[in-house]
Amino acid sequence: MKLSVIGAGYVGLTTAACLAQIGHDAFCSENDAEKLSKLQNGVMPLFEPHLEGVIKAVRRAGRLCFRSTEEAIAWGDAIFICVGTPPLANGDADLSAIEGVARAIGKRAAGYRLIIEKSTVPVQTGAQLRKHLSVHSTNGLRYDVASNPEFLREGTSVEDFLHPDRIVIGTDSPRASDLLREIYEPIVKQKFTCPIHSSCPKRQGPIFLATDTNSAELIKHASNSFLAMKISFINMVANLCEAVGADVTKVAQGMGLDPRIGSSFLNPGVGFGGFCFPKDLQAFIRIAEKSGCDFSLLREVEKINQGRIELFVEKVRRELWIVRGKRIAVWGLAFKPNTDDVRFAPSISLMKALLADGAAVRAYDPEATEKARAILPEVTYCSDPYQAAEGADAILLVTEWDEFRHMDWKRLRSAVEQPLVIDGRNVFNPEDISGKGFRYVSIGRLDALPRQLSEEKVESSSFRAGNNAQEVTA
Ligand code: UGA
Repeated sequence: MKLSVIGAGYVGLTTAACLAQIGHDAFCSENDAEKLSKLQNGVMPLFEPHLEGVIKAVRRAGRLCFRSTEEAIAWGDAIFICVGTPPLANGDADLSAIEGVARAIGKRAAGYRLIIEKSTVPVQTGAQLRKHLSVHSTNGLRYDVASNPEFLREGTSVEDFLHPDRIVIGTDSPRASDLLREIYEPIVKQKFTCPIHSSCPKRQGPIFLATDTNSAELIKHASNSFLAMKISFINMVANLCEAVGADVTKVAQGMGLDPRIGSSFLNPGVGFGGFCFPKDLQAFIRIAEKSGCDFSLLREVEKINQGRIELFVEKVRRELWIVRGKRIAVWGLAFKPNTDDVRFAPSISLMKALLADGAAVRAYDPEATEKARAILPEVTYCSDPYQAAEGADAILLVTEWDEFRHMDWKRLRSAVEQPLVIDGRNVFNPEDISGKGFRYVSIGRLDALPRQLSEEKVESSSFRAGNNAQEVTA
């Protein structure tokens, strides 16, 4: 099928490339002239595992091209809208890019088009789209509108697109529903050449869930908000663990073994970031508010997340005593591993706070350095984690890149000024790191307290359990 994709961000690029990979003819457009020219010249504007290889292959096969939005609108039988919906100052999603696309489609397209909203949008955006397509339609456009939320995670978006758990579509039109089934048939049947696995792990096709438009739109916001809630919940449990002398890793493990809870998204740390959770949570709160529903539960989720960096900086202050003039290594800048995205990344707020306290910050990230440098030029960016640790009074682990699990600790020990690791993602085993001669502090575990204090806590705690006490005194 001839499919147009408007917007070449993480979602649009992955969508266009993967639709071409499963056999469609895809046409991806981008308004940013510099980005468009990069794509046309085979240069990736962002880092996303596997994406570059897929784009190269489908372009060679003549199934993907990058051109202007006007051309994309004129070309496709179905048009995927993948433009940005950033937050406004009041937390609402800014839908002006979506409105702009609707206007352009109304003016330029003739004949039938299926318009698919893939960008994350508030509920009832589909209804607005329909209205505005009608208002602007001047060329005899006939159309259906469908919601088809994406559940792609940055860092695994190609895999998520090709091997999803579910495909959700929301439309009131049987024709739109049939077209979407046809578009996704290769994925539902898992019949396509997989660019990631030489032989795909045996997978069942995803559930294809068809709903009305409003419900599909809500599924996306509710899913992201629920996951954010899980993270804030475990972060509060981590705080409690520190206060009473318990280990959040074990608590999360015990909780996650209940299939009704599940083990994913129970990793405590410096909080969630990225361009999805923080903004989608805000937008969801605003939608509820405007609809007269008091969803204050989600306000707490947001508040807890906003407090994570301050708590982490407190750990740094507690360990270093005086932060001013100290050299601090920050390992990891991207909001999570396997991406170069630093939008709403905890690293940025953390480094701002450390700089405000007078520290000299030396940072390293395998992919996100340039994007972080554009925001915080006053940080010293290093080409590897050892260089960042040179003369450091503390190493702060902020993003759990795999690379950090394979460090030469002997080399680090002689590079640092003070052997101190503060682990914001609980990546390391406390015994391992203290065995290498480093003081180790993490989140919600007994080691998170200075040893003496942690022993006192356990001694005096009415929550003391035999095993825990043994572990600490051992
Ligand atoms: C998220 C959702 O997972 C996707 O399903 C959704 O499609 C996407 O948003 C979107 O709306 O487009 P993403 O933002 O790429 O995907 O990242 P996640 O893997 O969900 O992680 C979000 C944040 O939560 C990261 O900062 C991560 O470090 C943090 N996190 C995650 C935790 O702090 N603890 C956890 O246990 C899990």
